[in-house]
Amino acid sequence: MRVLVISDIHANLHALEAVLAAAPAHDVVWNLGDVVGYGANPEEAIDGARALGSLVVRGNHDRACAGLMGIEDFTENAARAVRWTQKVLSAERREWLRELMAGPVAPEGSAEVSCVHGSPRDEDEYLFTFNDAWPLLRRPAARITFFGHTHVQGGFASNGEEFFHLRPDLDGGDEAEEAELALRAGARYLLNPGSVGQPRDGDWRAAFALYDSARSLLVWHRVPYCVAEAQKRIRAAGLPEYLADRLSEGR
Ligand SMILES: [Fe+2]
Repeated sequence: MRVLVISDIHANLHALEAVLAAAPAHDVVWNLGDVVGYGANPEEAIDGARALGSLVVRGNHDRACAGLMGIEDFTENAARAVRWTQKVLSAERREWLRELMAGPVAPEGSAEVSCVHGSPRDEDEYLFTFNDAWPLLRRPAARITFFGHTHVQGGFASNGEEFFHLRPDLDGGDEAEEAELALRAGARYLLNPGSVGQPRDGDWRAAFALYDSARSLLVWHRVPYCVAEAQKRIRAAGLPEYLADRLSEGR
């Protein structure tokens, strides 16, 4: 099975369209959440996510925009984007957000895989560092866990004795690029496809991954998209300037 793994679209329609145009052939899509928040096209992002299939794990911004959680802990910029999103979303799309599944979600036909937004033990937990990841790799709920939330492409692995911090071997720049990771039998993985709509790993290009279970292969991808257009929409919507600026810097 070939799986397109995406996360953190964050209402960035232009990035989502670029990802879908560049994605290699696949059988199914696993979406790790945060479809909305920050960006200026939440309705289109929801429609796009819905069209891709049923495995969508809810993210914290999805819950906030659906009114399922308070935003006291959000930054001022994030909170402003939540309030704006709540205003522009139709009742029907808001209901779709409310109904999204909490992770971990086990994809059909993939016994060794789990999908989460933040981490397997807490949907809001960030897995940035070794210290965050190693307890989960020592006693994994699934051999391979796909996670998002950090907006950083990469992940962690363990062969039972050693732990590895995984970063895609990419050159950067403005062109489309990809990096392969051969998944070893017996090893455990926490894998992040990166963020479609608001990368924070110093690379402005939209991120996604292609998981090929038959070949035990993960391919991380980066694709350029029309950042200027996404920024224009954010500014036109009256959303915080910072949310536009950060897109071109990947931060
Ligand atoms: Fe996010």
